[in-house]
Amino acid sequence: MGLNIVVTGGAGFIGSNFVYYELANRPGDKIICFDALTYAGNLETLEEAMKSPQFRFVKGDITDAAAVGKLFAEEKPEIVVNFAAESHVDRSIETPGLFLHTNIIGTQVLMDACRKHGVRRFHQVSTDEVYGDLPLDRPDLFFTEQTPLHASSPYSASKASADLLVQAYHRTYGLPVSISRCSNNYGPYHFPEKLIPLMILNALADKPLPVYGAGENVRDWLYVEDHCAAIDLIIRKGKIGSLYNVGGHNEKRNIDVVKIILQVLGKPESLIRHVEDRKGHDLRYAIDPAKLTSELGWTPKTKFEDGIRRTIDWYLSHRDWWEHVTSGEYVEYYEKHYGLK
Ligand code: NAD
Ligand code: TYD
Repeated sequence: MGLNIVVTGGAGFIGSNFVYYELANRPGDKIICFDALTYAGNLETLEEAMKSPQFRFVKGDITDAAAVGKLFAEEKPEIVVNFAAESHVDRSIETPGLFLHTNIIGTQVLMDACRKHGVRRFHQVSTDEVYGDLPLDRPDLFFTEQTPLHASSPYSASKASADLLVQAYHRTYGLPVSISRCSNNYGPYHFPEKLIPLMILNALADKPLPVYGAGENVRDWLYVEDHCAAIDLIIRKGKIGSLYNVGGHNEKRNIDVVKIILQVLGKPESLIRHVEDRKGHDLRYAIDPAKLTSELGWTPKTKFEDGIRRTIDWYLSHRDWWEHVTSGEYVEYYEKHYGLK
């Protein structure tokens, strides 16, 4: 008998890639996507999945206990993977309340339903941002699972709070949980408000590329499929109650990522526009994934040089997708946030 797996936030960037990963690699399982379809979630992203008898989409909000209860009663999931979240640091600086509500209360509502329905595994998709940042002049330092929580933004504070709650539900109620904390992802279906897709689309349109401050902040980039493979392993073989860092030792300064994109697209560096820095901007993220590798044998498969080209090709061949998702609310956000047209 296959498993019923509820994937919350499966119409967003990483969640949708996970849906496709599971449909391709776990043909015996049923994947039920539960997503509120905020500005970041798009049904067009799931168009191919909708054709599969293995897949069901349910529109709903993880903070709505009645809707979550109805879903669990209908599907009786063995596994719940929680990707649903407000995920953009810049938006969290503008509207923190929404982040606390979705990311913390939503996690609590899901875990209460898991308790009630005897779910075998609740997996929380978290982020390395819960550790705060590392200094730029100490390349020898990495985030391990023992690094203390030290969040900088309302987004990362909300994710850290949710992680604490997940651990508390394990200790207090014995809920079978696991948590993964991944570094920055890139790849197909990435909403164009985030660095890599934003820079690709602006370069294509010969619009300015807004780099915060000097562009020297460092992020540790992982191709999204490698993250999906890690979660797939953790939910099936990872220890209950465990925490796993996910990352591929691929640190890059923002300015260098932007220059690579310009180079691949054959666009001039004169498009780069240094703009006001993000408030509380984290300097460097760098994950040590040794535990995941030694316990579960996970290693990343995609090199940045290949992944970034694949990603750029994907945006070049999916113009309809990004034209649709960047209409409406996004235009207002972009103009307000950057003061650019
Ligand atoms: P995203 O913003 O692209 O997608 C979020 C999805 O959640 C959307 O489909 C949205 O409609 C849905 N959603 C939002 N609020 C909801 C609610 N109340 N109920 C139901 N659905 C709701 O985000 P992403 O980049 O795919 O990130 C997914 C998860 O992975 C998040 O939890 C994020 O914290 C974590 N994460 C992201 C990264 C990254 O680089 N993007 C890295 C590490 C961890
Ligand atoms: P982002 O994709 O928002 O991810 P996160 O903040 O969660 O790491 O940003 C990645 C890096 O790029 C971060 O250091 C902020 C920077 N950045 C810019 O320089 N300009 C931009 O327009 C955006 C969106 C991000």
